[in-house]
Parts: sequence; C-alpha cells; structure tokens
Amino acid sequence: MAVIVCTGASGAPGVTTSALGLALTWHRDVLLADCDREPSQAIQAGYLRGLDHGGRGLGGLARVHRENRPLSSELWHHTVALSESSDVQRRFLPGFSLPGAVRLFDVVWPELADSFASLDARGVDVIVDAGRLGRDGLPLPLLARADAVCFFTRTSLRALAGTRLYLPLLAEQLAELPVDKLLGLVLVGPDRPYSAREISAQFGIECLADVEWNPALAAVLSDGDPEPKRFGGRSLMSQLRAAGMRIHERISSARELERALVARAAHV
Ligand SMILES: Nc1ncnc2c1ncn2[C@@H]1O[C@H](COP(=O)(O)OP(=O)(O)OP(=O)(O)O)[C@@H](O)[C@H]1O
Ligand SMILES: [Mg+2]
Repeated sequence: MAVIVCTGASGAPGVTTSALGLALTWHRDVLLADCDREPSQAIQAGYLRGLDHGGRGLGGLARVHRENRPLSSELWHHTVALSESSDVQRRFLPGFSLPGAVRLFDVVWPELADSFASLDARGVDVIVDAGRLGRDGLPLPLLARADAVCFFTRTSLRALAGTRLYLPLLAEQLAELPVDKLLGLVLVGPDRPYSAREISAQFGIECLADVEWNPALAAVLSDGDPEPKRFGGRSLMSQLRAAGMRIHERISSARELERALVARAAHV
C-alpha cells in the first residue's frame, strides 16, 4: 500500500526509534529500511543486539546494482527478520556499513526507491528511516516514491528551532516533484511544552501523529534494553500502533482525494 519516508532535523528527535516501533506494530507485512546517510547501525547494535547481518543491506545492494542485476528481485534476500511474529512479516534492510559508501550510492537510489514501491504488489509496506535531512535534503528518488513523508520533531523550543531550519528544505524538495506528496509532522513527546495545535499552526502543516515521551520504553527499541512484561501492549507501543494506523488512513484519504480530482479533471 505505501512507502513512508521518516526524517527529522538536528538533535536526534527519535526518528529511528519511532520508525522501528512503527514497523514492530504495523498492521500488515512491512519492511523497515535503514537509509540514513549518516550510518550508525543503530538498529543492529541496539534492538537487534549486535546481529551480524552477514553482508546484507545497502552495501550488498550496491554490489547487485554494479553487476547490473535487478534490485527488485534481490531486495528481499538482503533483509533480516525484525521479529519472529508469525502472522505478519516484519523485515529489516540494514543500512550502510561504511560511511564512504554513501556517496557512491547516488546512482542506486532511483532503482532502490522503485524496488520499495514494487513491494506493494506483494502486500508489503515500506518504512524508510531516511535519517536527518542534512544540508542537501533527502535523496529525491526516495521522496518521489513516497506516499507519505513524516518529519519527526520533539516539542521543545530547541527542537522546533531545528525544525524551522530544515522543514523548508524538505518542502522545497517536495515542490520539485510533479505530484503533491503528503507531508506531516510526527511529534515525539507532545506538550513538552508545545502542543500539536500550536506547532501545526506555527509551521502551517498538519501533525499526522504523536507518540508519548517515555525514555524507559524507548530505550528498549533504541538500545535493546530488556523488554518489560507485555511490552507490545505498553503505552508507547500502543501509541506507535495508533500512529501507524493514522498515517495509513491519511494516505488512503489523500489517495481518494487525488482520484476524485483526476476524475473531475477528466470530466471537465
Ligand atoms: N518517545 C520517546 N520518548 C523518550 N525518548 C525517546 C523517544 N524516542 C526516542 N527516544 C530516545 O531518543 C534518543 C535518540 O533516538 P533515535 O536514535 O531514535 O533518534 P534519531 O532521530 O534517529 O537520531 P539520529 O538523527 O542521530 O539518527 C534515544 O536515546 C532514544 O531512546
Ligand atoms: Mg536515527
């Protein structure tokens, strides 16, 4: 159904933690892709507790691309299991394992983004951890294939100052694309101190969702801290599940609106 690109500004607002939590609570098959261009291997070292990814990930896919083999058929082989749940497949695509490999990837982004979109046909959604926006913004092919772009921010003045610096760059990139994209904020720790309503009014874009401020539960995701009992039902996970549903609904309603506009234009 969808490719959801997650990003943020400076100050580690919680993009990776939240993207992981979204993937672990997503309502159907999902791939979490680490496309952070400032590689940190945060998920392998944290939640997956030092998992050896055996050469799988973006580095391996760059090799596939160099050898002129189709990425879409190889993508799944480069993923690892994120959880053992049997009802829903939750896979993880490891990110760059060498910082120097990032700039060599420029030629691979378009095909990788197409491969993400092609997973739709297999009933798999893709959540992309695109990392910080950075001074040059995100790879445009990823944005071109996105159904929703989620800009994560905390709600302190310091966090919002970073958002003010970087959000316009993202909006400019999206404006370069031929079709409108759903762009929204996701608040990590609303009301600390600014509310969704205040922030949305300030930046002129909607808040798609929010997740509570909860350092202890967040550390289970970000650092692999031991899971408390019934972790999946705890407040942070429930909120991430609800956030995922809300994002999914917004994508559906944006698509319906687009279809209606196309139909009306054809009618006129
Ligand atoms: N909802 C939350 N409540 C409290 N702490 C959180 C929450 N989400 C994330 N954190 C904490 O914030 C810190 C940074 O999280 P994370 O690595 O996900 O940020 P990031 O935005 O991906 O950073 P970077 O830009 O470096 O990739 C971690 O210590 C994590 O546990
Ligand atoms: Mg991160």
